[in-house]
Amino acid sequence: METEILENTQIQEAADFLAKGQLVAFPTETVYGLGADATRPDVVKDVYAAKGRPSDNPLIVHVASPEMVWEYADNSYQPLAQKLMKAFWPGPLTIIMPIQPGKLSKAVTGGLTTAAFRMPNNKATLDLIKTFGKPIVGPSANTSGKPSPTLAKHVYHDLHGKIAAILDDGPTKLGVESTVIDLSVDVPTILRPGMIDSDDLLKVIDNVNSDHHKVTATEVPKAPGMKYKHYAPSAQVIIVDDVKDFPEAIAKYSKKDASLGVLATDAILKEVPENITTFSLGDDVYSASKELFAGLRQLDVDHMDYILAQGFPDEGHGVAYNNRLNKSAGNAHYKN
Ligand code: TXA
Ligand code: MG
Repeated sequence: METEILENTQIQEAADFLAKGQLVAFPTETVYGLGADATRPDVVKDVYAAKGRPSDNPLIVHVASPEMVWEYADNSYQPLAQKLMKAFWPGPLTIIMPIQPGKLSKAVTGGLTTAAFRMPNNKATLDLIKTFGKPIVGPSANTSGKPSPTLAKHVYHDLHGKIAAILDDGPTKLGVESTVIDLSVDVPTILRPGMIDSDDLLKVIDNVNSDHHKVTATEVPKAPGMKYKHYAPSAQVIIVDDVKDFPEAIAKYSKKDASLGVLATDAILKEVPENITTFSLGDDVYSASKELFAGLRQLDVDHMDYILAQGFPDEGHGVAYNNRLNKSAGNAHYKN
């Protein structure tokens, strides 16, 4: 199959593919998603196949309005969920709630009694869902295990020939996937950190727990997706937490008979020897989050054996950034 690149105005063409039961990658403010008709299990199965994703890992249901959610979710969650929707939608917050029995297929929920809902902040995609008239499922539009796509060309690289089209809306603004919050438990719990953090959430609801710090490979995590190796380029990624260690780390890894790439902010890169391949994370944790996945992908295209990547303090946006970077590095840190 030839994968078509559509402009962000070709909404009807994209909706027509979805109506024919085909897969269309769509832009969001976080990363590109792989879209399919959420109401058709046969089509949703194709999403798993295209990504090579384990089928017990449930998908996010993307909607164009809160009303669309209440056709599927347990309506007793309205008082709590609507506070969050009002404050953060459209935006990078995914809300997990119990669903009305039989309303969404096992292909979407992975057999759970809950489902994840999100209204993305992207005009083309909101228009697409409205034109299509039904919610679309959308995992990140990458091959399972690889860094999430923040450009249409990343989607094309991983999925061309496997999907009908990509709705191209340029680079995504945030670069890190949405915060996932589970409302189906006694205390609302963050299962995946994102750009909306617990302080933001606590301005709107009384109580929030974080589960993501505790998730290890041996535990059964609440968000099934968190147990898999993720965001990993072919290169070995090593995190440099203390920026003062960069010169020493660069000296160590460039002595080996291997190619070294450095992924860091401009302040660090200006001290890096010219023979070393680099990718800029901009100048702060916000731009670093936006550029992280693109950097990991580019240094892979450049055939690096090792990538030394800058860590940030574990606070604010640094929590989500470090969460993704740790997964791509298999938790390998310089010096430990
Ligand atoms: O920003 C985003 O969220 C992007 C864009 C495309 O919207 N999507 C995305 O989807 O990151 P995905 O499939 O890569 O990640 C969804 C996460 C997975 O970790 C999955 O296990 C979890 O949400 N999840 C989905 N439904 C769930 C449920 N009912 N209970 C617990 N976790 C769930
Ligand atoms: Mg993903």
